[in-house]
Amino acid sequence: MAPAPSSTSSAITLNINGEKYTLPVDHRTTLLDALREHLDLTGTKKGCDQGQCGACTVLLDGRRAVSCLQLAVAAEGRAITTIEGVADGERLHPVQQAFLDLDGYQCGYCTPGQICSALAVIEEHAAGWPSAVTDDVRPEAGVPALTAEEIRERMSGNLCRCGAYVSIVQAVARVAEAAEADAGASAEAEVKEAAA
Ligand code: FES
Ligand code: FES
Repeated sequence: MAPAPSSTSSAITLNINGEKYTLPVDHRTTLLDALREHLDLTGTKKGCDQGQCGACTVLLDGRRAVSCLQLAVAAEGRAITTIEGVADGERLHPVQQAFLDLDGYQCGYCTPGQICSALAVIEEHAAGWPSAVTDDVRPEAGVPALTAEEIRERMSGNLCRCGAYVSIVQAVARVAEAAEADAGASAEAEVKEAAA
């Protein structure tokens, strides 16, 4: 008797921007295609479709991932953040606002991926992660200064065919500096409160 044909599709549930979506997918479907073709979340862009341009970058549990190299079935149970989930209602995220204010884009095709990457870069840097261009990677050296060179290296997985790199670096730097200043002010307030 011939073996029963194995199924090549499943119903999966994805947690995207805090909402649950259940959809049938062929097991070979990438997360990028599931977002764009099945769920109409077209903010995430397809550039190379082979992991080289970063246009399809999303966050998986807060970490950057190129969604063209991720199978949708493997993203079940992960918290997926796409560009559609970055703003707070009508209020743009500071990274989005900085890209807008500083002209961090031209055609805009790479911009959703750039913004998702920038969100993670700022978090990774604040957590003290070194990069390939960090001079002193010893833990006791503390958080490296987020220089333009550091930002360029950390954002190097995101290509921009329009060459908006100068403004992209400025936008990331502006938000990172503001976040650092906020963190410093909160720490100072906590010290004062503890001493009062
Ligand atoms: S489309 Fe995924 S890295 Fe280029
Ligand atoms: S703004 Fe056009 S590809 Fe980056």
